Amino acid sequence: MGSISDFRRSREMTARLRRAVPGGSHTYAKGDDQFPELAPGVIARGAGCRVWDVDGNEFIEYGMGLRSVTLGHAYPPVVEAVRASLESGTNFTRPSALELECAEAFLGMISGAEMVKFTKDGSTANTAALKLARKATGRELVAICADHPFFSYDDWFICTTTMDGGIPRAFREQTLGFRYNDLESAKALFAAHPGKIAAFFVEPARTDEPAPGFLAGLRGLCRREGALLIFDEMITGFRWHQGGAQKLYGVVPDLSTFGKALANGFALSALCGRREIMSLGSRDRPEDDAFLLSTTHGAESPALAAAIATMQVYRSEPVVQHLHRQGERLAAGAREAARRHGVAQHFDVIGRPCSLLYAVRDRQGRPSQAFRTLFLQETIRRGVLAPSFVVSYSHADADVDRTVEAIDGALAVHARALADGVEKHLVGPPTRPVLERCWGPQPDDDSGES
Ligand SMILES: Cc1ncc(COP(=O)(O)O)c(C=O)c1O
Repeated sequence: MGSISDFRRSREMTARLRRAVPGGSHTYAKGDDQFPELAPGVIARGAGCRVWDVDGNEFIEYGMGLRSVTLGHAYPPVVEAVRASLESGTNFTRPSALELECAEAFLGMISGAEMVKFTKDGSTANTAALKLARKATGRELVAICADHPFFSYDDWFICTTTMDGGIPRAFREQTLGFRYNDLESAKALFAAHPGKIAAFFVEPARTDEPAPGFLAGLRGLCRREGALLIFDEMITGFRWHQGGAQKLYGVVPDLSTFGKALANGFALSALCGRREIMSLGSRDRPEDDAFLLSTTHGAESPALAAAIATMQVYRSEPVVQHLHRQGERLAAGAREAARRHGVAQHFDVIGRPCSLLYAVRDRQGRPSQAFRTLFLQETIRRGVLAPSFVVSYSHADADVDRTVEAIDGALAVHARALADGVEKHLVGPPTRPVLERCWGPQPDDDSGES
């Protein structure tokens, strides 16, 4: 496998990006502090599971647009549907037929959803869910799962991180934290703030599976205490199961939010749930006064066409099964490579096969950004761009096999670095986490994606 090392054009464009755009990227998780110095800084194009950078280097990619591109880059049926929609105009003064078609297709897939409203990103959908919960309950506090790294770019969430500049202190007093798989921590919040909590936000699963009874217990607890249960299915949706994690685990929340994979990378997200709650934004009755997701680009046609085509692929092809199968193959190959190089204590693959992350540890067994950066550097050198091991429907057996070879090579370097020091092998500074919590426990992985 050839060694990729020419990033000249990337470097030059990254410097220009840094001058033009704060942080050098429109998403922090794509910024150059998230990647080693020897990395593709700017991507020119993608097809399937591959991307090419502006220097012409080719990579097998993982993560795929922060987990939004589940089918593959430029996936032909999606591209075709979008192209056809462009011929008919993108935005009108009344709802388009695509709005109805997309809403009905979505409601047909997510059985717990009685109504849906689309918008452009997950953060906005979650903030709208919180607004509905506050309106429905007449309460102001919100409880978020402290083990989950990201819910929204809005102040009610960002106030819990160290990047809380510009946010009034009052927000901090309204957001509380509870622990995943720990019903007692949720009960303790209700006990400490009786009749005050509007909603509990949780990803139904992340790297850990829900403990038996946890989601159902939280469901029952919220109902008894008069708070809404909200599932953030931004990652689990269209990945754990095509009906969402709520279908897989058999627990239906009051509201849930979807995004990312919904339109295979096009900008579309969804807030959905019980009719009675969603209707509070309908203007049908005088009390329906919640201003719910009304925005100029909320229903622009290309994203809706992309979502309709994406959902059609999910309905007719074994997308979710494929994601799990390739994830299992990748995890098995990576673990075997770690054992072969004697670094199984220092490198592990974590999470559900359809959404794999990896944990990299130093000699003392502590999570290490320097070793993570070295792993990225060495896999990039071998033609794999993998800030996570999140696969897509376009990752074929041969791609995963090639990736395992790259991991094998990278872990050989990892083993040497454990012996003689990471600084001998790493070019440039280590990466840093996207976001750090300023309260409560730190999430168990650093793959926050905004
Ligand atoms: C679980 C989760 N919720 C919400 C969001 C926010 O979504 P968006 O970046 O589309 O605003 C993200 C983004 O990474 C996420 O991972």
